[in-house]
Amino acid sequence: MTVHPDIKKIALDPIIAGERIKVSDERTWPTYDAADGQVIAEVPIANQELVSDAVEAARTALEGDWKRVLPAERGRMLNRVAAFLRRDRDTIARIESIDSGKPLREALGDVETSARYFEYYAGIADKLQGDTVPLGPDYVSLTLHEPVGVTAHIIPWNFPLVTTARGVAPSLAVGATAVVKPAEQTPLTALLLNDYLTEAGLPAGVYNVVCGPGDETGQALVSHPGIAHVTFTGSVQTGQQVMRSAASHVASVTLELGGKSPLVVLPSADLDAAREGIIKAIFTNSGQVCSAGSRLIVEKSVASPLLRALTDSIAAFRFGRGLDDPDLGPIVSAEQLSKISSMVEAARRSGVHVLFGGEPKRVDGLEGGWFYSPTLLQADDPFHPIVQEEVFGPVLTIQIADDFDHAIELANGTNYGLVAGIYSRDISSALRFAKAVDAGQVFINQFFAGGVETPFGGVKMSGFGREKGLEAVRNYCRVKTITARI
Ligand code: NAI
Ligand code: MG
Repeated sequence: MTVHPDIKKIALDPIIAGERIKVSDERTWPTYDAADGQVIAEVPIANQELVSDAVEAARTALEGDWKRVLPAERGRMLNRVAAFLRRDRDTIARIESIDSGKPLREALGDVETSARYFEYYAGIADKLQGDTVPLGPDYVSLTLHEPVGVTAHIIPWNFPLVTTARGVAPSLAVGATAVVKPAEQTPLTALLLNDYLTEAGLPAGVYNVVCGPGDETGQALVSHPGIAHVTFTGSVQTGQQVMRSAASHVASVTLELGGKSPLVVLPSADLDAAREGIIKAIFTNSGQVCSAGSRLIVEKSVASPLLRALTDSIAAFRFGRGLDDPDLGPIVSAEQLSKISSMVEAARRSGVHVLFGGEPKRVDGLEGGWFYSPTLLQADDPFHPIVQEEVFGPVLTIQIADDFDHAIELANGTNYGLVAGIYSRDISSALRFAKAVDAGQVFINQFFAGGVETPFGGVKMSGFGREKGLEAVRNYCRVKTITARI
């Protein structure tokens, strides 16, 4: 097995109080190159005791060295992290691309977004002002924004570095500390991030990383009574379990749980822009995106030309190793590939019409890799599981709407509500849709429009709480009100 030299350099042991800790029982978990299925690293598993040590280290830093760093200096440190990420963007992106399978240009975009999180939240560190509360002449009342405490971050495998930065940057900016549990499939960049935080001068214990299976290492972390807030991104089922675990010690939670997000195309749309938007919405990271636009809802008068254009585009897709920057890279794991395959197979067997793809893809020279064809499914029954359930792969269902009201009804017809998109040159219709749709964010005429500045989170089964933007800061602060009788 030849392992890329960038990967060989990464220290894989758990990071606790700035130290690389040797796990005593020597248990490890493999992580793979998604393009060829080869093991690229064996990552030591942190058991319950090590998780406890990590939470303890984060608590010590919270009350000690990190508390003494002045807010402006905290901001400067986080800005340095952003600069270091940009300096080493090529190396970091290569590592992310190999570990997750995503095309290199997307991994480069992820590094830039991660740098932006540190830069954006660096700016808030010395601006976290409280309020004064008017109670009349005999009182002075004010609020302080204190760090919430030790925060736990349970990271998914689809955006390993970005999700880590999205949670960790705001928590550190407000003076909290963090213990991160990366996904089993993609642990490398969260481990690597520690090097940059250390180089930027953050005290030991502010950022700790424990790797291992969700039901062991993850469960131990979120159940730990020393955790004040849990930021979780992943499946609904695991999110529910995380919420139950956090309830045992009344920790607050932010849950960002997938979706089945609609992308609506009205007859008034620029069809070329819509086609481009659809491709981005469902084929970015091979559709393994919580906010993927996985249900196309198109009004019938424009359905044929749009589907023709879409099919022509995806028929030309190039497949390959993430590092070779293909149109479509591999799926992250054998399990995820088999989940995608079996959902599409079940749909096909029950009569759903496969317009394109619908099977794993063989890529020459990468026979061990986990590739799946871009897939278009005509879904006439809005209650069919393939329309209702998250696939998390390059699989788009297509629903034909009779008119605008029908499009809204279809858009709101699942238990999820993460994002929604609409393409229309008629801004009144677009805004009318935006107000009517159940979603945490709505994209008009550009799917995924927005940035680290725009609040992000779900409604219904897609979760609650908001990350990104200034909203995220609330997750990591607790407000203390001080009232004096004078
Ligand atoms: P998952 O939700 O089980 O895993 C996400 C993270 O939670 C991982 O770090 C995992 O180790 C951790 N985890 C698992 N059980 C835990 C527990 N009891 N306590 C604490 N942490 C725990 O998702 P999985 O199995 O990787 O993927 C299954 C499906 O979930 C995907 O097919 C997709 O539909 C969805 N998913 C959604 C994501 C999103 O961005 N919203 C990201 C990843 C998966
Ligand atoms: Mg991997």
